[in-house]
Formats: sequence, structure tokens, C-alpha cells
Amino acid sequence: MDPSKFLILSILTLLTHNCSCQSVPSHIEEGHRVVSVDDHFAKGDGATDDSKAFKKAWKETCSSSVSAVLVVPKRRRYLLEQLNFTGPCKSPVTFLIKGTLAAPLNRSEWNDKNRRLWIVFDSVRNLVVEGGGTINGNGHIWWQNSCKRNKTLPCIGAPMALTFVSCNYLRVKNLRIKDSQQFHVVVKDSREVKLSKLFIHAPEKSPNTDGIHLDHASNVVIRNCEIRTGDKLG
Ligand SMILES: *[C@@H]1O[C@H](CO)[C@@H](O)[C@H](O)[C@H]1NC(C)=O
Ligand SMILES: *[C@@H]1O[C@H](CO)[C@@H](O)[C@H](O)[C@H]1NC(C)=O
Ligand SMILES: *[C@@H]1O[C@H](CO)[C@@H](O)[C@H](O)[C@H]1NC(C)=O
Repeated sequence: MDPSKFLILSILTLLTHNCSCQSVPSHIEEGHRVVSVDDHFAKGDGATDDSKAFKKAWKETCSSSVSAVLVVPKRRRYLLEQLNFTGPCKSPVTFLIKGTLAAPLNRSEWNDKNRRLWIVFDSVRNLVVEGGGTINGNGHIWWQNSCKRNKTLPCIGAPMALTFVSCNYLRVKNLRIKDSQQFHVVVKDSREVKLSKLFIHAPEKSPNTDGIHLDHASNVVIRNCEIRTGDKLG
């Protein structure tokens, strides 16, 4: 092949390969890296456990030397077991949730060690989580087995849908978080935190489903959030 043609072809292949073809928010600067969970073979069918794909996508995003966006595509539903997205990351990371993250429907996916957690971000500075998508804790399987509802049952803890630990300069916005097993959003040991445009919904009778729970968090701004749950702010 003519070498110049080969070069053009290679550049084109590179371009198409790098194009995850997901629109990203305008505040994310040019030159960022985009990683889609689908690049790591997530199924997004709501039935297959996609945790492995998310772990791989997180590893790639968190180790990027330029700011990076992890995309969860829209109109898809990703079933996820307990996950811990751990930092520190090399560059600022945006977790762009456009589709739905769904919790397992079987409580035996959790063991005694991790029963209080579902999706965790730990030690990630400058993290943004947004995207207009949904986080669904499928809490009904926990509520119906709660000792608050049925006094004959043992009291065991239930997971929090979204937990942030040691995440300074955190922004969480424009997400629907529903039917958490217990508290919906927990921010712990973090400062400079902005939570906005969060729609947090669970049935009125769901036990201990606080909307937002702060624990050793400072300089926290909560704006334009709608919280309709069993409990409100904790
Ligand atoms: C998340 O994982 C890291 C690394 O394994 C661990 O040090 C940390 O304690 C975990 N965070 C939580 C909240 O369990
Ligand atoms: C939940 O998982 C356990 C262990 O894997 C299994 O024995 C049980 O049948 C499952 N329950 C349901 C309702 O799928
Ligand atoms: C409470 O739990 C016990 C033991 O699982 C069960 O037999 C009973 O039907 C439950 N009661 C209600 C009101 O759900």
C-alpha cells in the first residue's frame, strides 16, 4: 500500500476507535479521555452482572493522565454488585451516568463485611458524578425483611445506595436516586461538597431511607434537591 494512504487509514482507524460517540457535557474540556463501560463489554441488559466491566472501566478512567470521563450509556440498565471505586486518581474524573445502575435483587449478594455499602467512591478528589441517569437500589427486598416492619425478624444493616468517603471537592448533580436499601446518599469525611439537582425518591413507608446523610462532612452545599423518602435529611 502507498505509505501515505496507510498513514491516513491508520489515523482514521484511531479516530473511529477513540470515538465513544457519547456526547459529554460542555464543561468537560477538549482533550479529555472518554471511557465507556460498553468498551469493556458491559451488557446493560439489566440481567447480566456488569460489575467486572465497571471495575475495568474505572481502572482505565482513574489511571488516565488527562482528565477522564467514564460513561454509562443511556437507555440501558446495568446490574451491579457491591462496588468500591477507589482513588486517588491521576486526573479529575467525571462519572457520567446516563443510563440506570440497578442493585441485585438477592440479598445474599452481600456478606456481613460489606452489608452497609452498595456503590462506594473512596478517596477520589475532584470527582464529578452526574448525567441525568438513575441509581436504583431495589430496596423493597430489604424493606420487607426489615425488623422495623416485622418485629420477628433479626435487625441486620442494609446498604446505602451511594457512599462517598474522603472525596474532597466533590460534585454530585442531576441524578435520580431511588428505592435505596437504606440511606440514599452518604457523604463521609469529605469537604467542599456540592450536591444539586438530585431527585431522591422512595416510598413513604420504606424504613430508614434517609435522603442525604452527612458524617464528618464540611463546606457542603445542597441545592435544588427533591427528597421524598421514608426519612428526609439525616
Ligand atoms: C474501598 O476499597 C479500598 C481499597 O481496597 C479500601 O481501602 C477502602 O476501605 C474501601 N472503602 C470502603 C468504604 O469500604
Ligand atoms: C439468592 O442467592 C442464593 C445464593 O447464591 C441462592 O441460593 C438463592 O436461591 C437466591 N435467591 C433468589 C430469590 O434468587
Ligand atoms: C414476619 O416474618 C416471619 C418470619 O419470616 C414471617 O413468617 C411472617 O409472615 C412475617 N410477617 C409479616 C407481617 O410479614
